[in-house]
Amino acid sequence: MKKFLLTLGFTAAAGLALSTSALAEEGLDLAKKSGCLACHAIDKKVVGPAWQDVADKYKGATEMTATLTDGTVETGAPRDVLIKKTHKGGKGNWTAVTGGVPMPPYSPRVADADIEKLVDFVLSLAK
Ligand code: HEC
Repeated sequence: MKKFLLTLGFTAAAGLALSTSALAEEGLDLAKKSGCLACHAIDKKVVGPAWQDVADKYKGATEMTATLTDGTVETGAPRDVLIKKTHKGGKGNWTAVTGGVPMPPYSPRVADADIEKLVDFVLSLAK
């Protein structure tokens, strides 16, 4: 019985690790397909900030503000605001890193559901 439980525990842990990496792979794949990786990398600044730095910046935050390309200022939960910013583009949050380059708008080029997946993927990278 003990051996059975041990095996079960191990299988569950392995399954979890597998689904986490499958999620990461899907996120990265979608980022590549959507053109994000022309300007972003997980762990270093390219044109835009490293996605790991984005995730770390908003980790634990309940609110953030972003100025979108059309000039509207959005304040709210980071996930919601980052989804809006990926839809419409914007600049101002990473000027010290990027020199003020804007993030381009992605809606409707990228489907709403995919934009949500991409933002969830970016936020999942927090250490
Ligand atoms: C042409 C270059 C470029 C491309 C392509 C690009 N980005 Fe960005 N991204 C940027 C820049 C520059 C910033 C920093 C904007 C700022 O200073 O507020 C940024 C910022 C971000 C942020 C953080 C926003 C914030 O306010 O903290 C997220 C999330 C993000 N990008 C996701 C994406 C996703 C998802 C894609 C693909 C659908 C993508 N980016 C494609 C240049 C790009």
